[in-house]
Amino acid sequence: MGLKEELLTLKEEITKNLEKASNIQTLEEVRTQFLGKKGRLKHILKTLGKLSPEERKEIGKLANSIKEYIEQQIKEKENILKNLLLQEKLQKEKVDITLPSFWLDIGASHPVISTLVEISEIFLSMGFSIEEGPEIEFEEYNFDMLNIPKDHPARDMQDTFFLNNGMLLRTHTSPVQIRTMLKRNPPIAMIAPGRVYRKDADPTHSPMFHQIEGLMIDKDITFKDLKGILKIFLENVFGKDIPIRFRPSYFPFTEPSAEVDIGCTVCKGKGCRVCKGTGWLEILGCGMVDPNVFKAVDIDPEEYTGFAFGLGIERITMLKYQIGDIRILFENNMNFNNQFKGLR
Ligand code: PHE
Repeated sequence: MGLKEELLTLKEEITKNLEKASNIQTLEEVRTQFLGKKGRLKHILKTLGKLSPEERKEIGKLANSIKEYIEQQIKEKENILKNLLLQEKLQKEKVDITLPSFWLDIGASHPVISTLVEISEIFLSMGFSIEEGPEIEFEEYNFDMLNIPKDHPARDMQDTFFLNNGMLLRTHTSPVQIRTMLKRNPPIAMIAPGRVYRKDADPTHSPMFHQIEGLMIDKDITFKDLKGILKIFLENVFGKDIPIRFRPSYFPFTEPSAEVDIGCTVCKGKGCRVCKGTGWLEILGCGMVDPNVFKAVDIDPEEYTGFAFGLGIERITMLKYQIGDIRILFENNMNFNNQFKGLR
C-alpha cells in the first residue's frame, strides 16, 4: 500500500473511531492513537524521507490536510461530548427556584422573663442591686430566721417541698433577705428575682413560679418610703393612673404588714370575674422588717429600720397580658409564646 492510500485509510479509520467515541476518555485515546508522538500519523510521516522531492511535497501536503482534518474532527467531537456532559449535569443538579426558601425563626423572651426583666430594671434604676440565693434552701433561712417558728401555722400557708437531706425547695424569695443581711451591713437596697416552689396546682397556682423580693434598710426608713417606692414601681408597670391601695395584713417577718391592691386592669374597677366583683386586684405583700428578723441576723433594730416586699411575677404577667390560666405559661405552646414576639 502506498503512503497516499495509507493516509486515506487513516482518515477513514479515524472517522469511524470518532463516531464510536462516547466519552472524553475514549476520545483522548483516539487522539493519542492517531496524533500522539508514537501515533499512526507520526509513523507515516517518518517514512516521508524515502520519497522523491515531488512525491514528498504532494504526500506532505496531503498528510498536513489530513492532520488538520483529524484535529478538527476531534475538536468537534470534543465539543459535542462536553456539551452532553454539561446537559447531564444540569439535569442532575436541577434547582427549582420556585420552591419557598427556608425560614430562620427568630426567638423571643418568655413573657414571664420579660416581666421579670422589666420589673428588675425599674428597681435597678432606683439604685437597688440584684441578689441571688439558691433554690434548695435551709429550713432556717426559709422559715426560722424569718420569724416563722417550727409549729407556726404560717408554715402550712406555704405548702413546702421537703427534701430527704432536711433541706427544702424555697417557698419564697424571702430567704435571700436573710442571706444578704448576713453577708452585708446596712444600708441595703436589694431585689432578688428567682424561682420558688409550693405544693399547689390550679388555674392560678403553679408548683414552680417566680417572685421578686425587695429589701431596703437604713437608719430612717419608714412606711412612707415603702409606699413611695412601690407607687413608682406600680405606675411604671401599669401606667400613671393606676389606683393603688394598702390593706392591713399579716406576715411573720414584717410588722406592720400590708397587702397592696391595684384597681382591676380588666374592668377598671367596676367589678368583674377577674377581680371577683371587688374592683381590686391583690398584687404584692409587704411591710416593715420585723425586729425579730433583724435580731436573727445581728442587726440592731434600735439603730436600723427597713421595709420588705415580695411579689409574684406570673400574677403580674397574667394581669398585664390578661392571661386567664397560669398553666399556659409553662406549656411551651408556640402559638401562645409567639404572640409575645417583639415585645422586648
Ligand atoms: N414572702 C411573702 C410571700 O411569699 C411575700 C412578702 C415578702 C411579704 C416580703 C412581705 C415582705 O407570700
